[in-house]
Amino acid sequence: MRVAKLQDGLEGTELALPIHSDDGRLLLAAGTKLNKRLIRLLQSHGYTRVAINDPISNNIDLDDAITFETRLQAEKALGNAVDKLVRGYSPDMYEIADAVDAIMFDLKRKSKVSMGIYSIHSFDESTFTHSINVCVLSLAIAGALDWPTSKMRELGTGAMLHDVGKILMPLPILNKPGKLTNEEYELIKTHAEKGWQLLLDCFEVSPYASKSALEHHERLDGSGYPRNLTSSEISDLGKITAVADVYEAMTADRPHRKAIFPELVYAHMSEGKDTQFDGTLVDTLFSTVALFPNGTILSFEGDYVGVVTKQDSRSSFRPYVRIIEGPGIVKPVEISLYEEPDMKIKLILDDYSPESRERISKAFGGEATDSPR
Ligand SMILES: [Fe+2]
Repeated sequence: MRVAKLQDGLEGTELALPIHSDDGRLLLAAGTKLNKRLIRLLQSHGYTRVAINDPISNNIDLDDAITFETRLQAEKALGNAVDKLVRGYSPDMYEIADAVDAIMFDLKRKSKVSMGIYSIHSFDESTFTHSINVCVLSLAIAGALDWPTSKMRELGTGAMLHDVGKILMPLPILNKPGKLTNEEYELIKTHAEKGWQLLLDCFEVSPYASKSALEHHERLDGSGYPRNLTSSEISDLGKITAVADVYEAMTADRPHRKAIFPELVYAHMSEGKDTQFDGTLVDTLFSTVALFPNGTILSFEGDYVGVVTKQDSRSSFRPYVRIIEGPGIVKPVEISLYEEPDMKIKLILDDYSPESRERISKAFGGEATDSPR
């Protein structure tokens, strides 16, 4: 199984996970074979990526940090809360609290090997996906640092709702593909304070948990917003949410740009250690999260192409890879990147071209379209 870009080239490919509409209705079941009409249907619902089974990704588990059901539960909880808020009612916090507990439960069951964080949800809901991923990342960092359960619950709630102020921002500016003007940027910056006020006034969130919303854009050296707080003034919740937020934002596709290469994100965040971000939190994040989650297709120097098959506890930068194409490759070869330091990763491939998939599938047993489950 792997996550692939939704495009016509996926015709004949089998969905690996069910797909739901915004209101939670089942749109397509797992195992459905995609055709042009279904691809258009998903595109009309804003989907840009889907989980598929194909020969390249045979026997690979996505290994998402949380289960599919938990992700759906969190999406529904967030959706209901925002919906109620918009209609002028107080959101039911028990749904959010249950979703946070479900995430904590899933994370506890994970091994020490780094975990994948996937974005396979529709574009319109990118703020939801972002919020859930920031919640998962924040809790993963806190869990690795052995935070007590009660404090993790506050963190999880705050992180899940850290961007809630964005519901008060105009959509055309939020989704603007180009660079924001100064005025637009100043307006967007108000989401932190507005979200904090919403959490205090409308949600039954503690003043402590609401710090995630207020402080997630603050930086240790005072260069952040809205209050230019410095290290000792920023709460631990604000610091942890900031690290998770920046990592998630940089590694996901955004309306105005593509995801940034994880090693560049690492370089950026390492550079900001103890000036912008808490160094311990940055180190914990990069030892906890898989930089190249299972199913990612990578190209290497020397014209090799491979797919990540599993993570290696020795390094979150160097997983196991199945090399599927390259000089001298006649059948797939599994290698440990950790043990092959000369294999230099060049790019994350958006997808593997249909022609290449066809050719490789034939070479590897002729299962181009009828992939085994
Ligand atoms: Fe934000």
